[in-house]
Amino acid sequence: MKIVIPGGTGQVGGILNRALSAAGHEVVVLTRRPVRDGEVRWDGATRGAWEAAVDGSDVVINLAGRSVSCRYTPDNLREMMASRVDSARVVGEAIAAAARPPRVWLQMSTATVYAHRFDAPNDEATGVVGGAEAGVPGYWAYSVEIARAWERAQEEAATPKTRKVALRSAMVMSPDRGGVFDVLLWLARLGLGGPVAGGAQYVSWIHDRDVVRAVEFLIGSDLCGPVNLAAPAPLPQRAFMRALRAAWGVPVGLPATKWMAELGAFALRSDTELLLKSRRVVPGRLLDAGFAFGYDEWRGAADDLVRRVRAARAGT
Ligand SMILES: NC(=O)c1ccc[n+]([C@@H]2O[C@H](COP(=O)([O-])OP(=O)(O)OC[C@H]3O[C@@H](n4cnc5c(N)ncnc54)[C@H](OP(=O)(O)O)[C@@H]3O)[C@@H](O)[C@H]2O)c1
Repeated sequence: MKIVIPGGTGQVGGILNRALSAAGHEVVVLTRRPVRDGEVRWDGATRGAWEAAVDGSDVVINLAGRSVSCRYTPDNLREMMASRVDSARVVGEAIAAAARPPRVWLQMSTATVYAHRFDAPNDEATGVVGGAEAGVPGYWAYSVEIARAWERAQEEAATPKTRKVALRSAMVMSPDRGGVFDVLLWLARLGLGGPVAGGAQYVSWIHDRDVVRAVEFLIGSDLCGPVNLAAPAPLPQRAFMRALRAAWGVPVGLPATKWMAELGAFALRSDTELLLKSRRVVPGRLLDAGFAFGYDEWRGAADDLVRRVRAARAGT
């Protein structure tokens, strides 16, 4: 297949590009700064010559969006919104204008669309969309608004020959430098991998190999609309970090209060929403459709990721 990945230069794009290329597919990445073979320039907001890559392709997987690992300043929030909505809109326009449109458009979205909650898991049918929770910072609602506008940009695209799927992805755990697993492992190794603000908030996650397998599964399926990309067993942050510490062999993890988390997030130029929001998301539609996760429990996934990090650092 010819697979076009707008925004495919980041963590998730790298994972998919490596796996899909190795499986024999032709992968074209749309990027604002092309440097490698297979990369085509676009600006993520306006139509242009890049559309030739979409016309005649089999699958488009749009991942473009300003990183959410940043301080949630008004400027950054605006850029987080615009980069997602504009890129989804323009990808939809390119597909609509194509003489030979792709048969599938997988559009990245996020598990953050669901409410901050502890009481029950969110699947696609019964999950509660966030934005109206009491007792959480007001700006958390804006992340939900971004996710909803992002999905709306895909829904509104007039692409009758192309099946559309929105990937409500949890945090993707891979051994890549700079990815979320790398940061959490670094904190754990410093002895800082303890519960944050009590640690009852749920962490939803998905192993990188399951991301690839789920994408392949969705390409071959007939599912459309929102699909949760998350392992079936989200767990409280304190248990999540305990398993990570055990996988690496770190005996202690100092607990952190909300204020310490604020300081730490500030130092890392990130935002505490990523640590404190309870994301309890489960893959209802994938499981119903018969998808089997390779890594459904966090302990096994963490062991595998640690093994791969150690192998990469040892140069094997
Ligand atoms: N990683 C996760 O755990 C996770 C979980 C859930 C959802 N997601 C979402 O999945 C997508 C991919 O994630 P990722 O971790 O691979 O992100 P990433 O590493 O930040 O990569 C996203 C890509 O988007 C492009 N981009 C950034 N700002 C842009 C802008 N203003 N206009 C157009 N393109 C822009 C960049 O490509 P160029 O600089 O090459 O143009 C970048 O490589 C993101 O939208 C993210 O929010 C990720």
